[in-house]
Amino acid sequence: MPSINFKGKSLVQNYHLQVPFHELKPVKAKSLAKKVSLHDNLVVHGDNLKALKALLPYYHGKVKCIYIDPPYNTGNEKWVYNDNVNSPMMQEWLGKVVDREDLTRHDKWLCMMMPRLKLLREFLTDDGAIFISIDDNEVHWLRGLMDEVFGEQNFIASVIWQKVFSPKNTAKYFSEDHDFIVVYSRRLESWVPNLLKRSAEAEARYENPDNDERGPWSSSDLTARNYYSLGTYEVTSPSGKKFKPTMGTYWRVSPEKFKELDKENRIWWGNNKNNMPRLKRFLSEVKAGVVPQTLWLYQDVGHTQDAKRELLALIAFEKSEDVFTTLKPTGLIKRILNIATDQDSIVLDAFAGSGSSAQSVLQLNNEDGGNRKFILIESEDYADELTAERIRRVIKGVPKAKDETLRKGLGGSFSYIELGQPMQIESLLKGKKLPAYEDLAGYVFYTATGEDFNAKKINRKTGYIGESAKYDVYLYYEPELEYLKNTALTLDMARKLPKGSGKRRLVFAPTKYCDAVHLETERIDFCQLPFEIYKTAKPGKT
Ligand SMILES: C[S@@+](CC[C@H](N)C(=O)[O-])C[C@H]1O[C@@H](n2cnc3c(N)ncnc32)[C@H](O)[C@@H]1O
Repeated sequence: MPSINFKGKSLVQNYHLQVPFHELKPVKAKSLAKKVSLHDNLVVHGDNLKALKALLPYYHGKVKCIYIDPPYNTGNEKWVYNDNVNSPMMQEWLGKVVDREDLTRHDKWLCMMMPRLKLLREFLTDDGAIFISIDDNEVHWLRGLMDEVFGEQNFIASVIWQKVFSPKNTAKYFSEDHDFIVVYSRRLESWVPNLLKRSAEAEARYENPDNDERGPWSSSDLTARNYYSLGTYEVTSPSGKKFKPTMGTYWRVSPEKFKELDKENRIWWGNNKNNMPRLKRFLSEVKAGVVPQTLWLYQDVGHTQDAKRELLALIAFEKSEDVFTTLKPTGLIKRILNIATDQDSIVLDAFAGSGSSAQSVLQLNNEDGGNRKFILIESEDYADELTAERIRRVIKGVPKAKDETLRKGLGGSFSYIELGQPMQIESLLKGKKLPAYEDLAGYVFYTATGEDFNAKKINRKTGYIGESAKYDVYLYYEPELEYLKNTALTLDMARKLPKGSGKRRLVFAPTKYCDAVHLETERIDFCQLPFEIYKTAKPGKT
């Protein structure tokens, strides 16, 4: 199978594994929540590579739908490739704005995207999918990269979104009227799209001119061009008129089937019972909705001007050049959510921008009574005054808004998170920048077991931090050097460890005063902090 190649690929291929875990620090003052929590809706301020890695212990395999809208790499966006990959070549690239003159701009973009896509994939549930907005600058490279990271067999569709309502006549060659939304699943066999609601227009096509007790119906042609050896017979209408398929077409059903359908009053001969027969299709018998199509018109999901209007209805900008551009209409994101989420799904957007995906989640919950949750990541400083502020206003309401629901506010909550220090586990030796208990617990649990960590399970009294498939896991740790110097797993402590689920116990502590035989008798595997947290990790895990 062909594979994509680009400058720097060998350096970034496994970079996501090297990115250190960072602490996640909830900021109460910027949150809109009674109790800030990593299990709330989240707005995370920071580079998404670090933020994704830090969130992984909590949300690994839990996200049903990822929507991302990364820089399109048009050459005008002023984005900088600044992942700190340690290599002279990467260092040479650092800090330079990626513009049209930059002959390696596609390589840089791919270097930026690859580790992020690898991490994003880890978040998806087995039946989850990722939707990526992109345009012609990178769509072909993105497809190649996605084939490699997600697997060609997991490709679902490349959607065309008609983003403008009128062509740009000033365009030099073609007016670019669409973006793409590239869609891949985690495992195609497990992914099932929700059917979309039939539009009012489509529903209106179902009528009931003959007062059929089965309810409204629409009719479809009973002939087709495909050759069908039994499809050439003659039929007679109730008024006595004879019909055969026109030259080059055939009935789509056998003569017996036709008779059966006619007997069941499923053939429509017209009001005067004198027309070419058609097949009646009852609204009550067709699928409850329509299968998603790959062409999304602005009339159905909104266009770029709608997106801007939606933001301006919530936030006033001092100068028009300050208005956030490149944003997406909520109609577009709601279409994605309608296809790819259930009412309690978690939705992740790692390039959050103005926060339109959070608004879409809140609106859809409001419309269908759902309880979807969002996780947004934004690296720029406007994560607070734009991304989070938009969400605050959607939740609390904007008194001057025209729309009634916006005026009242949709309710809800979110926690605002800053990225803290990288979790340099070796720092435990020096006692400097010691991570908080919960952060270290998430880190060691996930690193050692490769399984999801749930902070709610922590019991600080016993040191219990959770249960994996194989172990009950314990952590003896406090972010104080004296504690670390003086704490050891003793035989007495080993014997007093709660029996928990009855599984073997995995114990993290600075040291132990207990020999291997006794540990085995107590069915304990010991990991010394900070050195041995990888001891039980499965190879290849993030
Ligand atoms: C095209 S905009 C997204 C717009 C968004 N869909 C909306 O409707 O508002 C891309 C956003 O990704 C952010 N971004 C770019 N690189 C990032 C990174 N490495 N980590 C986090 N955010 C990043 C940019 O600052 C920008 O706000």
